[in-house]
Amino acid sequence: MRIIKTKDYNDMSRKAANYIGALIINKPDCVLGLATGSTPIGTYKNLVAGYENGDYDFSNVRSVNLDEYKGLPKENEQSYYYFMHDNLFSHVNIDPANTHLPDGTEPDSQKACEEYNKVIASMGGVDLQLLGLGHDGHIGFNEPNDEFDKETHCVDLTEMTIEANKRFFNSIDEVPRQAYTMGIATIMRAKCVLMVVSGKDKAEILKKSFFGPITPQVPASILQLHPNFVLIADEDALSAL
Ligand code: F6R
Repeated sequence: MRIIKTKDYNDMSRKAANYIGALIINKPDCVLGLATGSTPIGTYKNLVAGYENGDYDFSNVRSVNLDEYKGLPKENEQSYYYFMHDNLFSHVNIDPANTHLPDGTEPDSQKACEEYNKVIASMGGVDLQLLGLGHDGHIGFNEPNDEFDKETHCVDLTEMTIEANKRFFNSIDEVPRQAYTMGIATIMRAKCVLMVVSGKDKAEILKKSFFGPITPQVPASILQLHPNFVLIADEDALSAL
């Protein structure tokens, strides 16, 4: 595990984008595993800036996202598809046919997950998986559990997550109850895992995840075993160490 300590959120975002940008320069047809959430937004902004000034060419880049809500169509503003278009895809020259997310509109969970595993395998695996860190140590939608979830699967969202998400919807009834997510084994197979973490509110869980025991009760802790895990975190997020 390598820790890159940054001054603040902007510094973290710039360094993470530089890290990903270096891969795009070195391997123009790389497979990027992408994440949603608030933390990577700055990273995407910097990647867009790098594209605009001619540093990064996305024309041959391929991407697979970590997760998607089950039941939300692409045009729903809360779908992760919408998020990715809004924050990255529509601002760079990536070919839409090369971008992939689990199909949230597929009602058959087994089919949706199997299809997604096939998509990832057909690309020859993920070169770099970008991750954020949940307050309970979740990665993707892999929540604390008695065992590590393996491949892409359908998860029931916890009451806590449903409650936290309701602010984005007109009513709690509209909040998705399930999501499709890459599993821990899928994530661990990425050649490089790059996690971005910012803020004091993440300091305790960061310490627990990477300086505590490896346990499925803290899903991110498994990353301690990844041969190429890079953590880019700001001073606040590292303040409990
Ligand atoms: C995003 C994802 C989540 C987030 C995590 C942290 O695709 O799968 O695991 O990375 O919830 O979210 P933020 O960055 O909003 O704190």
